[in-house]
Amino acid sequence: MSGLVAGKVALVTGAASGIGRASAMAFAREGAMVTVADVDADGGAETVRLVEAAGGEAIFVRCDIADEDDVRSAVAVTVERFGRLDCAHNNAGLGHGQAKLAEIDRNRWDRTVAVNLTGTWLCLKYEIQHMLERGEGGAIVVTSSATSLLAFPLTAGYAATKAGINQLVRSAAKEYGRDGIRVNAVLPGPISTEMVARSFVENPSLQKHLEEDVPLGRLGTPEEVADTVVFLCSGNAGFISGSMLTIDGGQTPW
Ligand SMILES: NC(=O)c1ccc[n+]([C@@H]2O[C@H](COP(=O)([O-])OP(=O)(O)OC[C@H]3O[C@@H](n4cnc5c(N)ncnc54)[C@H](O)[C@@H]3O)[C@@H](O)[C@H]2O)c1
Repeated sequence: MSGLVAGKVALVTGAASGIGRASAMAFAREGAMVTVADVDADGGAETVRLVEAAGGEAIFVRCDIADEDDVRSAVAVTVERFGRLDCAHNNAGLGHGQAKLAEIDRNRWDRTVAVNLTGTWLCLKYEIQHMLERGEGGAIVVTSSATSLLAFPLTAGYAATKAGINQLVRSAAKEYGRDGIRVNAVLPGPISTEMVARSFVENPSLQKHLEEDVPLGRLGTPEEVADTVVFLCSGNAGFISGSMLTIDGGQTPW
């Protein structure tokens, strides 16, 4: 088998759609066996179908990353089915809807924190526990956002959870580097997925504004993020850990 992650086992959360689906497909194309984890069973089944149609191997696990039992079970099912876990893309996330800080709905705030921050921590926790038990290291990538570095209007709570994720990545990279576990974050700018399409419905002027704001003059594609994630999980990125890699067409000025 050939490919950047040939023979490895990867778990991708939020893989029923968008960036996560592209990531599952990129891992499989580069030789990995993939667990597709998501709350959306229909979308997850479709991702598995697409991976298999392209000649890859994948299973679907229903998993709400905010639920500790679900996350523990997603890692356990992956290990049971494929024998181990080498790579993870902790990608599932959601927004609280376009709203100024003082107008964010409390329930949506709580769910955003529960999924984006607590859920990502739970994924790191159980993935790292498995990698430590196995003793052969691993590579984990978390989907943060360029909004974790920049203050875009109407996304305050979402941006705060993504900034929190960045700090989890820095801490994990420091704490588990000696165990051979690399942990990195990708920070996408605007990527054309369902999530962004929903924002455009809520805020119709947003698309034009974003395209003007991105030096490359367009939205990114899920595949452009996915290819970077697989690179970060591959041996080609063997000395990269604790990094915050923007994939934003030049939007972040540093
Ligand atoms: N699209 C962008 O412009 C953009 C930019 C920066 C960061 N991101 C981040 O990228 C990630 C993927 O977003 P996307 O644009 O592909 O959106 P998307 O809405 O297309 O996909 C998100 C997926 O996550 C799943 N999901 C939501 N809550 C979940 C939960 N609790 N447990 C498990 N799965 C859950 C959804 O079912 C969906 O399949 C998110 O973390 C998002 O914050 C997106």
